[in-house]
Amino acid sequence: MPEPGIDADIRKARTLPSIYYTEPSEFERLKSVFKNWQFAAHNSELEATSLMPLDHFETITGDSVMLLRDQETRCLSNVCTHRGMRLALEPCNKKTLQCRYHGRTFNLDGTLRHMPEFEQVIGFPSEADNLQQYPLKRWMGMYFTAQEDVPDLPWKMLEKRLGFLEPETFRHDIGRNRDHTVDAHWLLYVDNYLEGFHIPYVHPELNQALDYSGYVTETFDGGVLQIGKAVEGDVKFELPPGHPDEGQDIAAYYLWLFPNMMFNFYPWGLSVNIVMPVSHKQCRILYRGYVGDAELASQGAGSVLDTVEDQDQWVIEEVQKGMTSSAYHRGRYSPTREQGVHHFHRMLSEFLETL
Ligand code: FES
Ligand SMILES: [Fe+2]
Repeated sequence: MPEPGIDADIRKARTLPSIYYTEPSEFERLKSVFKNWQFAAHNSELEATSLMPLDHFETITGDSVMLLRDQETRCLSNVCTHRGMRLALEPCNKKTLQCRYHGRTFNLDGTLRHMPEFEQVIGFPSEADNLQQYPLKRWMGMYFTAQEDVPDLPWKMLEKRLGFLEPETFRHDIGRNRDHTVDAHWLLYVDNYLEGFHIPYVHPELNQALDYSGYVTETFDGGVLQIGKAVEGDVKFELPPGHPDEGQDIAAYYLWLFPNMMFNFYPWGLSVNIVMPVSHKQCRILYRGYVGDAELASQGAGSVLDTVEDQDQWVIEEVQKGMTSSAYHRGRYSPTREQGVHHFHRMLSEFLETL
């Protein structure tokens, strides 16, 4: 399979060929991009619970895992080492974990505690009877996990930009949870997220709250940061002295981390979108909201989220239909407005070459 070959020079480059959005075999091949870091949870979600299964991680990767808060927090396999039963089916506050199938129990560090009727088993228990541990990274109050050891993301660089918001102090607001099914390839959801080019055409309400002419896109290894500027008089961040964006009126930071995680920082707090692949023509989007200052939630770019989401879903579902046309193969990029999409396609194309 010849890879898409996205030219490094955006002025010459052509977009990702439509086959990547329409072919089931390409959808399957791309699944290994999800081996990278994945958002697990925010620390406020773990306060009232010692054990939290990560259903979205299972949907994305096929691995059932859970977060466990003991003296330290770990991410462990959620699959019983006896015959494969899933262990935690909902969040709970237990101190040990008992399998509901034949009663095997585990400690919160994943070590086997007890198994009935196994006295005669030779070489039991062994290391293989403990629950497998997954990598876990804590960043600004958020946990990330992965199926295997993967390269670090530029956590420090991003923390310098966004750390002043103190996202670790935000609280999970369950009223902001959403789970939408969209009839489009997950790539289309990401493509659409990575440009503000469509804002004046697709999002009239958001366009009122953002200064489109000041919209900035910055690309870096592992992701893209888009910066939405506030219109005069609207709610904006209080940037501390010495901040890289000091002096600017910023309404929102839109951070995307490869391949499927979106962190939208607003003066009221943080909205996280996780894109989950379902098929070559369907994805699911999981939303979580973490609030810092509830009073600001009704103002500015962060106040019209559900409306903006409906508009985005409408447009990408229409694009999915367009992708199947024999008359469309691939397009070109705007060098001033589509640097984020170009960067994403370059990353994908490099990734595909490694397969
Ligand atoms: S599958 Fe868990 S004890 Fe049998
Ligand atoms: Fe949009």
